[in-house]
Amino acid sequence: KQARISIDREVEVSRVDERIFSSFIEHLGRAVYEGIYQPGSKFADEDGLRTDTIDLIKELKVPYVRYPGGNFVSGFKWEDSVGPVSQRPHRIDPAWGVIETNEFGLHEFMNWAKKADVKPMYTINLGTRGVSEAKDVIEYCNIKSGTYLSDLRRKNGAEEPFGIKLWCLGNEMDGPWQMGHKTAREYGRIAHEAGRMLKFIDPSVECVACGSSNSSMPTFASWERTVLEESYDTTDYISLHTYYGNRDNNTPDFLASSVDMDQFISSVVATCDYVKAVKRSNKKINLSFDEWNVWYHSNEADTKLEKWVQHPHQLEDIYNFEDALLVGSMLITLLRHADRVKIACLAQLVNVIAPIMTSDTGAWKQTIFYPYLHASTMGRGTVLNTAVKVDTYESKHGDAPFVDAVVIADEGQETLTLFAVNKDLKSDYSVTMDVRQFEGYQVQEHILLTNEDLKAVNTEEKPDNVAPVFCQNSKVEDGTLKSVLPARSWNVVRLK
Ligand code: AHR
Repeated sequence: KQARISIDREVEVSRVDERIFSSFIEHLGRAVYEGIYQPGSKFADEDGLRTDTIDLIKELKVPYVRYPGGNFVSGFKWEDSVGPVSQRPHRIDPAWGVIETNEFGLHEFMNWAKKADVKPMYTINLGTRGVSEAKDVIEYCNIKSGTYLSDLRRKNGAEEPFGIKLWCLGNEMDGPWQMGHKTAREYGRIAHEAGRMLKFIDPSVECVACGSSNSSMPTFASWERTVLEESYDTTDYISLHTYYGNRDNNTPDFLASSVDMDQFISSVVATCDYVKAVKRSNKKINLSFDEWNVWYHSNEADTKLEKWVQHPHQLEDIYNFEDALLVGSMLITLLRHADRVKIACLAQLVNVIAPIMTSDTGAWKQTIFYPYLHASTMGRGTVLNTAVKVDTYESKHGDAPFVDAVVIADEGQETLTLFAVNKDLKSDYSVTMDVRQFEGYQVQEHILLTNEDLKAVNTEEKPDNVAPVFCQNSKVEDGTLKSVLPARSWNVVRLK
């Protein structure tokens, strides 16, 4: 089968904001404890931080990490997480039915972030707390000295302010499962006031208001409209979250989930611009897709977990090959919307619905690690408007193209990178793309991730069962890139 991809060097979508390759660590399961922090482990450094996961996170070049929640944050008291560890309280975390010891807290996270070369995206609790605590936590983090809380931070070992620039105003406040769940109007008011408070104290910060937890929420779109009506002047980004699963074992439908993601993004953009028009505002609200991934494999096991224990194996999805294909398509979807999606967080980063898993004997890469790695390391530059002429198939999300693709030009590095997923389970696709505007460019590499078995996984014992290879499926001939994308495959074709 055949597909044609068309680009024009001068028809750009946008420069990619590197924050689109961000991720997320929540106090949940073994994300923090045993994931990034495990004193006594042979992989731990002098601060108890796991160096093996830090190495993998550096390989991924993760720019920002959202922290500390997630649902967890809506019952969290940030003050519990600072000061001498022996005096920090153990608390119940009602969101996940576990006990949080607070052994790893704000200072430990900032220290870890520095070592992992990531920047913080800090979530405040707007569920069970409010404006006053927002005021306190930013004073603690961002004021240099001379006030009670900034001096407390210095006493606790951080002479210099943390300087956190990106703040999430609560988490999934539209969800009835959220502690302190609110109506859109209630949340919009508190988000506005909390955001105003953060900006009074540090005008250089940016704020992300909660959008919908997914596009199937009954309040979807009217939630965004109302929240933005109330908080337009303080909000910089509105959040989107979504997780997909293949519960019916229908792979074509599952792989078509990126169509839903695409429509979700377009609808949120439209809603932001509607409120902009109503307000006669010049300000544009951009999007922070700060939770996205596949999540369903662990759902059943999690219903059997014992309550009120410390960091159990929770939300530990073991990802298979078809999950990697969808993650690749979701990355393509985010990049195709790079004009409005400025931040996105693969949820999450270690052990909990994550590309990286750990045990006492090491850390290994799940299947989804690879598309994330390739996009983050090779997807920086300028997104070109990428038209894909290809057959579509019917799915529960509407018509889905068999091939998803996006092209990134990096003028500095003089590279042109095509990311493409072939969702056809049986047929290869021969793809052509006119590259005469990129005179002299030749194929540097074609990286391919494919597998006969859609359900193949990586495990501690077989960590390289699903791994990318270099192939010779691409060439430039007479100004045309000609590539063969094998059936069911993730492809990175890099020209230079
Ligand atoms: O990432 C897991 C959970 O999914 C987060 O805590 C929550 O925000 C979402 O529902």
